[in-house]
Amino acid sequence: MVKRTKIKDLFLSDTTKDEVLIKGWVRTRRDSKDFSFVEINDGSCLKNIQVIANNNLNNYETDIKKLTTGSSVEVRGSLVESQGNQKYEIAAKELKVYGFADEDFPLQKKKHTDEYLRTIAHLRPRTNKYGAAFRVRSALAYAIHKFFQERGFNYVHTPIITGSDAEGAGEMFQVTTLDMQAPPKAAGKIDYKEDFFGKMAHLTVSGQLNGEMYAMGLGDIYTFGPTFRAENSNTARHAAEFWMIEPEMAFADINDDMDLAEDMVKYLVKYVMDNCAEDLELFAKFIDPALMDTLNTIVNNDFARITYTEAIEIMKKSGHKFEFAPEYGVDMQTEHERFLTENHFKKPVIVRDYPKEIKAFYMRVNEDNKTVAAMDVLVPRIGELIGGSQREERYDVLVQKIKAMGMDVEDYDWYLDSRKYGSVPHAGFGLGFERMMMLVTGITNIRDVIPFPRTPKSINF
Ligand code: 4AD
Ligand code: MG
Repeated sequence: MVKRTKIKDLFLSDTTKDEVLIKGWVRTRRDSKDFSFVEINDGSCLKNIQVIANNNLNNYETDIKKLTTGSSVEVRGSLVESQGNQKYEIAAKELKVYGFADEDFPLQKKKHTDEYLRTIAHLRPRTNKYGAAFRVRSALAYAIHKFFQERGFNYVHTPIITGSDAEGAGEMFQVTTLDMQAPPKAAGKIDYKEDFFGKMAHLTVSGQLNGEMYAMGLGDIYTFGPTFRAENSNTARHAAEFWMIEPEMAFADINDDMDLAEDMVKYLVKYVMDNCAEDLELFAKFIDPALMDTLNTIVNNDFARITYTEAIEIMKKSGHKFEFAPEYGVDMQTEHERFLTENHFKKPVIVRDYPKEIKAFYMRVNEDNKTVAAMDVLVPRIGELIGGSQREERYDVLVQKIKAMGMDVEDYDWYLDSRKYGSVPHAGFGLGFERMMMLVTGITNIRDVIPFPRTPKSINF
């Protein structure tokens, strides 16, 4: 018995073959007088293989002529040179049906909008565009591990359920097993001592704080996992559940951090260009004609590096009409970020040294005592791709900051331990995996680069 071959490997073969076996889903069927052409896709690559099924096959009338788009089949036959525009096709000796697709299978020839396809997110991986996107997503995830492992970073699994707010922004989903209809009370308030963990628990917004602890033991680490944010921003760049990559380096400062971020972005873009060329071609053709230029610009240029103060000045002097006027001390809007990277520098920009009031408590206070050693990487079409910083390693300064931000020092006693026992300068960042996906594919909505998106008022599937 001949073993199954993936369609991708058939096209890579340098010879025809007497006997091959493929399995996949029917994309189209066309009948002529003596045979049918059946296009089959198995998800291993963008291309379909064309199968020629002759009317002398014993199930020609009963099965083959009834094949609908979406049906699943197995085909045994010879791999022969194609008369058409592809290298090979299969002359079928046998075609077995696993399952017919009902006539109402929604992914017929007709082109659908992304909005419609989101309503059938369970079926969209069977389209060319989403097949391509999710092959790229897999390659990109692999490239992330490859990048860090090649550099001696250890992969750390930080918890998903957490007892502390890593960003101090209060955008957390609560996790509880209490009966919401009749929660236990103490002194008029819900008594979380009765809850599963004996205190309030949430889904994590970031693995950073736990990651830092492991950097203090293992040196260089990275996390790569799901994170959750209950921010009610219904934008094309925000999801309530998204994946984040968070490296953390012991004995590193903000400059090491920016270098690592720039190296990583370039490495990932190059990896996808080298390994997903066929899928990227589809995006360049149908989604973003400037895609390859954008990617080449990223790979071939140094990222611009400026301070937040310089960024505000550049925008003020630009004469550009912003919806929100850029102002020192106010957090940057997406339109500001995009102006800097798309209009002004025309390449990725790293902005550093933000006012301390607008950034998280753990960032290291600079000499000026006004700014913190934060850095954001901004890229065309997306704006913020990465947010990172050198961490405040001085115990007293950190305690002061936690208090000043109205947070409870007791909640962070474990975190503060790292500043008491052999504290070292360290730095890290978070890369939004879906934003990276948007960058490399040209896809403009975050809902279309994550398999089953979760956004405000939407949790189907
Ligand atoms: O800038 P953020 O909030 O940084 C942190 O969470 C730090 N703890 C990272 C660190 O230093 N270890 O988030 C990091 C990145 C953002 O730059 C953005 O790309 C992405 O995560 N991100 C989101 N992506 C999708 N949907 C959301 N709601 C996101 N919020 C942040
Ligand atoms: Mg940020």
